[in-house]
Amino acid sequence: MKVTMIGSGYVGLVSGVCFADFGHDVVCVDKDAGKIEALRKGVMPIYEPGLEQLVATNVKAGRLSFSTDVETSVADSDVVFIAVGTPSRRGDGHADLSYVYAAAREIAAHVKGFTLIVTKSTVPVGTGDEVERIIRDTNPEADVAVVSNPEFLREGAAIEDFKRPDRIVIGISDDRAREVMTEVYRPLYLNQAPLLFTERRTSELIKYAANAFLAMKITFINEVADLCEKVGANVQEVSRGIGLDGRIGAKFLHAGPGYGGSCFPKDTLALAKTAQDHDSPLRLIETTISINDNRKRAMGRKVIAAVGGEVRGKKIAVLGLTFKPNTDDMRDSPAISIIRTLQDGGANVVGYDPEGMENATTVIDDIVYAKDAYAAADGADALVIVTEWNQFRALDMARLKKIMANPILVDLRNIYRHDEIVRHGFHYTSIGRPDLAEKT
Ligand code: UGA
Repeated sequence: MKVTMIGSGYVGLVSGVCFADFGHDVVCVDKDAGKIEALRKGVMPIYEPGLEQLVATNVKAGRLSFSTDVETSVADSDVVFIAVGTPSRRGDGHADLSYVYAAAREIAAHVKGFTLIVTKSTVPVGTGDEVERIIRDTNPEADVAVVSNPEFLREGAAIEDFKRPDRIVIGISDDRAREVMTEVYRPLYLNQAPLLFTERRTSELIKYAANAFLAMKITFINEVADLCEKVGANVQEVSRGIGLDGRIGAKFLHAGPGYGGSCFPKDTLALAKTAQDHDSPLRLIETTISINDNRKRAMGRKVIAAVGGEVRGKKIAVLGLTFKPNTDDMRDSPAISIIRTLQDGGANVVGYDPEGMENATTVIDDIVYAKDAYAAADGADALVIVTEWNQFRALDMARLKKIMANPILVDLRNIYRHDEIVRHGFHYTSIGRPDLAEKT
């Protein structure tokens, strides 16, 4: 199969290289000439475990190439994926579809022979209809089928998620297209990954409903964590206790500082807007959004309380800046609001992140970056773990105790146990668990 991927960002690049690895002939296209030039030299635009190696292998095998030229690759393709960004539109929170529509116009002008146009970008219900209209208006002769095929990759685990998906959702109404899509995903199909064929609008909604449900699940356990703190219960045990019920499921029940990233915040907002426009509001999702926004700021206040209610002039070390581990993505990271709240209170913030510091400089002002966790903690009045990178899971507490000005650890991801930290003479605050430090 000859495949073109329009947009070589996170989704396009990971999907493109994985399709190439399945044996398809893939061209990843992007308008950003600098990005394409870098990719040709083997330099990745994002940090994603395993990506660089997989790109190198498939480029070497001659199955993957990079281009800025839509015309040649589209004319040659059986399938063209649209994997461009759909950011929140400034001002109203609707998904900004201008990149998707621009891609559709460009593709329409160059398609030859029966071609599938597949939307992989996260797009609101009805976008496929509009893409189809644009293509037919631009090129009435075009023999195309417009398909919805949302992606469910998690940053940091994207290649694994692509190769071992829980399901593949395909919104389609054309039998020829159905055959081609089955061929595109044949290796996964042979591995028995369920291929779910639906109407196109249903497929578009499945993507939003999945992300909104997961965001709601996280938000639910975050609120339960707050209650646990008030009533002296342990949220990790509550999660386990409810997660073992097969109807609930154990995943996405880790209480933390609130969800962030490039997907949940923008997708929940876009879904809520779509629902309002159709006079069918999703109040659970609207509430989820507002609880999560408030939570990020509340986490800053939680740190201030752990330090004794006053951070003016104090040095606070923050470990982990990205919205989750194994990515360099800072978009909507809880660290941004937490650090801002600390700075508003007059704190001097030192930050460290294994991969995210370069991107952090574009969204966080006035912090000092340290070269590792210990350099950040040196002389600090408190150490705050915001993102659960593996390298923060076994910190040398004795060493930290010696170098910190005050032994206060705020663990917003519950990666430590109270007893092991308190034993080293720390005051320890975590999320939704009885605060033993207060009792010693
Ligand atoms: C999310 C979905 O999990 C993917 O299925 C989806 O494809 C992707 O969005 C997308 O739409 O592109 P991602 O944003 O990469 O993936 O990251 P997640 O692992 O879902 O984490 C999102 C946020 O929720 C992070 O801030 C994470 O720390 C937080 N989280 C997650 C929790 O606070 N608790 C949990 O139990 C799980």
